[in-house]
Amino acid sequence: MSTKEKIEELNKLREKAKEGGGKEKVEKQHKKGKLTARERIELLLDPGSFDEFDRFVTHKCYDFGMEKKKILGDGVITGFGKIKGRPVLVFSQDFTVFGGSLSYAYAEKICKILDLAMQNGVPVIGLNDSGGARIQEGVVSLAGYAEIFWRNVMASGVIPQISAIMGPCAGGAVYSPALTDFIFMVEKTSYMFITGPEVVKAVTGEVVSFEELGGAKVHAEKSGIAHFTAKDDRECIEKIKDLFEYLPLNNLEDPPYMENDDPEDRICEELDGIIPDDPNIPYDMKNVIESITDKGTFLEVHEEFAQNIIVGFARMAGRVIGIVAQQPMVLAGALDIDASIKGARFIRFCDAFNIPLIILEDVPGFLPGVEQEHRGIIKNGAKLLYAFSEATVPRITVITRKSYGGAYCVMSSKQIRGDINFAWPTAEIAVMGPEGAVNINFRKEIENSDDPEKLRQKLLKEYREKFANPYVAASHGYIDDVIEPRETRKKIINSLKMLENKSAKLPPKKHGNIPL
Ligand code: HXC
Repeated sequence: MSTKEKIEELNKLREKAKEGGGKEKVEKQHKKGKLTARERIELLLDPGSFDEFDRFVTHKCYDFGMEKKKILGDGVITGFGKIKGRPVLVFSQDFTVFGGSLSYAYAEKICKILDLAMQNGVPVIGLNDSGGARIQEGVVSLAGYAEIFWRNVMASGVIPQISAIMGPCAGGAVYSPALTDFIFMVEKTSYMFITGPEVVKAVTGEVVSFEELGGAKVHAEKSGIAHFTAKDDRECIEKIKDLFEYLPLNNLEDPPYMENDDPEDRICEELDGIIPDDPNIPYDMKNVIESITDKGTFLEVHEEFAQNIIVGFARMAGRVIGIVAQQPMVLAGALDIDASIKGARFIRFCDAFNIPLIILEDVPGFLPGVEQEHRGIIKNGAKLLYAFSEATVPRITVITRKSYGGAYCVMSSKQIRGDINFAWPTAEIAVMGPEGAVNINFRKEIENSDDPEKLRQKLLKEYREKFANPYVAASHGYIDDVIEPRETRKKIINSLKMLENKSAKLPPKKHGNIPL
């Protein structure tokens, strides 16, 4: 064969690999409203930037007649490219080839991507669309999964890992995405569960659809497994690209700086009137976030889950920050189990990847109730406390209104090494709210009084004046300054700059023991 013929042969093989499972299967994929694995990669990466690996890999299975069924690439497309000029490693599962099911050779392709990512400090994005373990390969396929899981764990906290679920993701296969930092799900065409509707019916008698059991909505709102949802593949990929802009390439880098024209010393006049005079009336904390951060940069994470806490990325003076804030509009901003877990996980991501934390606090306390106690608010609330205490990235807190009880301690108080703690004049920092405090402290006096209600109101007023303010905490130095709401942006940016070279270390240890 001449060199020319050899090059022609190579190109023929390349074309063959591009066909995946063939025209018919591709049509089926499109009919379901899904893009193919290659189309997804094309949309995700900068035009012409994709370099593919392992397109000639085939499986090594000789059972069930599989030796006669070999398809180049074996059902997963892997390689590297760029998103807005920044490098990324990708794998995209091809449902048109054996239902995207995972053989050992396929697992080796993904492992190669994860190994390269670790060695070179490059993030990994996995686009999942697979029938799970390749049934014909049996335990060898399971071994392939386990190799991937182990690498996901080793890579955790070293490089950002993003998973998109764009089709089936069932059985133990869910654990690779579950070990990554962010999960995107596409509405109606994707699902995740350990056992599907048929097994559920056989074991528990419950009748449930794929969507109700493990669709995007369920995982975004109820289980909290999905951080983002999208209406279709295209929107999903656009959302992944938006998130990517906030992430550093690895744990030794800072997230990308991006200049913008929002003045650093912009006064946020609208914040002066945001806190209602009545402490029981809520306001939307998202307005505070939008107001203090660089215009149009707030990207909420986990938007549909545990809405009493808000987490997300934004920029201030062009630098990426992570926001953790109470939402007084939902459960009055009280901390419950889901909110604690949501907050803790986000804090740990930011801490692992050098993203300073801005905390906006308005929390009446932990949520009371038998259900919360029995489900373990103690150990779950402790996760939030643990995550804040352990975080060595700069931490700046603004108490906008309530900061009561254990929640004061947990929400990055100075005593758990918050760096800068501000309070608005509307802040109420005390062991508990006026109602509870007066009822407990003066129950006998109130009961024995001639006019119990009058006395109660008098005591409430006294308590509010004496304790429900920021000045007691400020007199101890627990609050660095009481600031006007309008100055908040400027004050935070100044503090972020002062803290830019913060160097704090944890004591040497193998690892801590976060209350799981
Ligand atoms: C081999 C598979 C496969 C699998 C699908 N296919 N799943 N081949 N191993 N796991 C093949 C089908 O035989 C079919 O091949 C093609 O992929 C498309 O599948 P369809 O069933 O026609 O597609 P659809 O109707 O869309 O249904 C998709 C599906 C279904 C719901 C995912 O295929 C399914 O239930 N598959 C089995 C899922 C499963 O139980 N997997 C094991 C999970 S446990 P042809 O040639 O006919 O087109 C697991 C453990 C992981 O994965 C453990 C990790 C520790």
